[in-house]
Amino acid sequence: MEIITDISSLRARLKRESSIAFVPTMGGLHEGHMSLVRLAQQKSNCVVASIFVNPLQFAPTDGFDQYPRTLANDCEQLQHQNTDVVFAPDDNSLYPVRQEFMLEPPQVANILEGEFRPGFFRGVATVVLKLFNIVQPHVAVFGKKDYQQLHIMRELVQQFNLPLEVVAGETVRTPDKLALSSRNHYLSEEERVEAVQLYQALSQIKHEIEDGNRNFHALEERAKENLRNRGWKPDYIAVQQGDTLLPALSNNEDKVILGAAWLGKTRLIDNLEVTL
Ligand code: PAJ
Repeated sequence: MEIITDISSLRARLKRESSIAFVPTMGGLHEGHMSLVRLAQQKSNCVVASIFVNPLQFAPTDGFDQYPRTLANDCEQLQHQNTDVVFAPDDNSLYPVRQEFMLEPPQVANILEGEFRPGFFRGVATVVLKLFNIVQPHVAVFGKKDYQQLHIMRELVQQFNLPLEVVAGETVRTPDKLALSSRNHYLSEEERVEAVQLYQALSQIKHEIEDGNRNFHALEERAKENLRNRGWKPDYIAVQQGDTLLPALSNNEDKVILGAAWLGKTRLIDNLEVTL
């Protein structure tokens, strides 16, 4: 495995590759990220993973400085997984001048996560487009864990005619169904036990929809109330259309239930697909 930190060396290394599968990350790697690497390996002989904590997608209160930076451990895991190339640039390599050109994402970036993290998807889309231009992958792998991000990445690729395929990886969970996330490390022991209740809330809504309940608003409100009663602060619990991510309407479309909630000082997000 090669660890490369500057853009020109990366370009030189990747010149000889006829096909590249790319897994962008911010580090703090865990088994969820590794599953994306394995998926990428099924798509190409050359897998590039990037590790870059992107300042553009952090609001001032979002904890950019506190974000886990565990490069040595990340590289160990990637090496173990037989990743070909790690691209780990510093801020100066990716942003040698102030990034004034920014990608304005579509309307769907203003709901759900976008409502509570203004500018987040602008920062994500901008850095991902830069990374795509640098790595020039044929396949890019994103996790369903960040469902709205995955959706917006698909729109980015489609609307800008980028010559690559977006592949989605399933959410990797602990045995008690907590979605793996680098933020789980912030949880106290007690909070860690409680954390699965977000998944449980989404799961309960999923079962009700499968049983024929179509009062999505009531389902969302009840789930939020239940979480509040357990001490959570929900940002949103929402039943949306799977293909557009807009609020669910009809009976028979595929749906996705998305949720974000604060447990103490930690903000957790999760989602569940419903295929009818
Ligand atoms: P990061 O949070 O590091 O996530 C990198 C990728 O791992 C994303 O595609 C995310 O959806 C996926 N992922 C995270 N947890 C997962 C889990 N439990 N199971 C499966 N996949 C999981 O998302 C970002 O970084 C950044 O926004 C980025 C796209 C790199 C742009 O900066």
